[in-house]
Amino acid sequence: MKQRFNILSDWFLERFPLSDLWNEHMAHYYAPKNFNIWYFFGSLALLVLVNQFITGILLTMNYKPDAKLAFDSVEYIMRDVDWGWLVRYMHSTGASAFFIVVYLHMFRGLLYGSFKQPRELIWIFGMLIFVCLMAEAFMGYLLPWGQMSYWGAQVIISLFSAIPVIGDELSLWVRGDYVVSDATLNRFFAFHVIAVPLVLLILVFLHIVALHEVGSNNPDGIEIKENLNWKGHPVDGIPFHPYYTVKDIVGVGVFMFFFATVIFYMPELGGFFLEHANFIPADPLKTPEHIAPVWYFTPFYAILRAVPDKFAGVIAMGGAIVVLFMLPWLDRSPVKSIRYRGGMFKKALLLFVIAFIGLGYLGTQPATPAATTMARMFTAVYFGFFLLMPLYTRWEKTKPLPERLTDQPTLEDRIPCVIALVNEVTDVQQTTDATGARITKRRPNPAGIKAVLFRFAKNLKESLD
Ligand code: HEM
Repeated sequence: MKQRFNILSDWFLERFPLSDLWNEHMAHYYAPKNFNIWYFFGSLALLVLVNQFITGILLTMNYKPDAKLAFDSVEYIMRDVDWGWLVRYMHSTGASAFFIVVYLHMFRGLLYGSFKQPRELIWIFGMLIFVCLMAEAFMGYLLPWGQMSYWGAQVIISLFSAIPVIGDELSLWVRGDYVVSDATLNRFFAFHVIAVPLVLLILVFLHIVALHEVGSNNPDGIEIKENLNWKGHPVDGIPFHPYYTVKDIVGVGVFMFFFATVIFYMPELGGFFLEHANFIPADPLKTPEHIAPVWYFTPFYAILRAVPDKFAGVIAMGGAIVVLFMLPWLDRSPVKSIRYRGGMFKKALLLFVIAFIGLGYLGTQPATPAATTMARMFTAVYFGFFLLMPLYTRWEKTKPLPERLTDQPTLEDRIPCVIALVNEVTDVQQTTDATGARITKRRPNPAGIKAVLFRFAKNLKESLD
């Protein structure tokens, strides 16, 4: 049997370079030895991509892309198709998980300067993936044909009409009708199921090819290829397989825990993952009281609403994405990683994160005058972070780079600190129950919590100075 298998595998390998590919991209692909948890999100994005493909194909088997049948076909999947509810929740939760994972993946890039030379192209491919992902999610959201699907699409497509001269024609062309209708649903279905996934797949392939050409960055932001051993391997590198294949499985396990918790216990996540209004069939004659896109679009939606003029708002929203493409050329710092940058970048990044989350929140809320003022301030911070970057990254004093990767504490090193922290923020109380048995309980210790928070704030301030 074994001999037969060997003959078959030899026959195959003489005709296809599978083992060469495996060695080049896994077993002999040297990655920096100091990857931390921020490096889980690339492989998690791949996992979610596969989840979306598989559950998407299964959903398509029972979904009807017809304005008269679409809503009911989704209900049918939820109630009558065997395991249909699970497949649908895996797909809808997967959409939000995709954005959580990709936002964290992009943020890792900001932390460690992974977009800087020589990884500009990885970043550009990543940004193209991000744009495709937004298009994919937007078109997918129309398919259940609920109130929010319908009116969300109506609002966003009508933005095109703000473009001078060609605007009205353009939005008509995108919709295929004067309002969102069956024609729109049909074309969005075609794009969501075939066209965009295909482009996404190609872009992810190019993203990884570009990554393997230059090699991964790392939390220290120094190039491991500059320090080779006598075999020509980076001294600070380890083979991707088995070290990171095994490490990534830990990330997958943790991710699956949260993913399953949402799917089984809170699939709508309070209206964030599946909006309440989308459980009502689309009604072209009844506009919902408050139209808001899904959470992952809300930072950009808030920027759109923050600008008083509609066309200028569309430009600002587009600009918020275009400016991300330009990041590799805006950052003039001689170092990549935040570990060796000066205080100005750290403060700017902190403000940017606050502004991005703030915009995300405001985008879910009605546009009151106070909310609009806040959104304008956050929009200014968002653009300020990028547009002033060439200045503050050049001016600030950076720390000297180490020759080799540094040893950061491992998880095992941190366990005693975690135990000490738990002891500090809680008090142990011994009591006895009715039977006289001793019960040990931990209660929060306000003084300890205050001390920890104070220390945290002090450390944060020091790290920013
Ligand atoms: C479907 C979405 C995506 C998938 C499947 C994906 C996959 C991956 C994988 C597997 C890696 C290597 C592992 C790692 O460094 O975590 C990686 C690296 C990278 N990705 Fe993505 N990615 C996606 C989206 C993006 C986006 C939207 C961006 C940014 C705009 C981006 C920027 C990068 C960068 C800069 C690296 C190199 C990081 C480093 O070496 O430090 N990726 N990606």
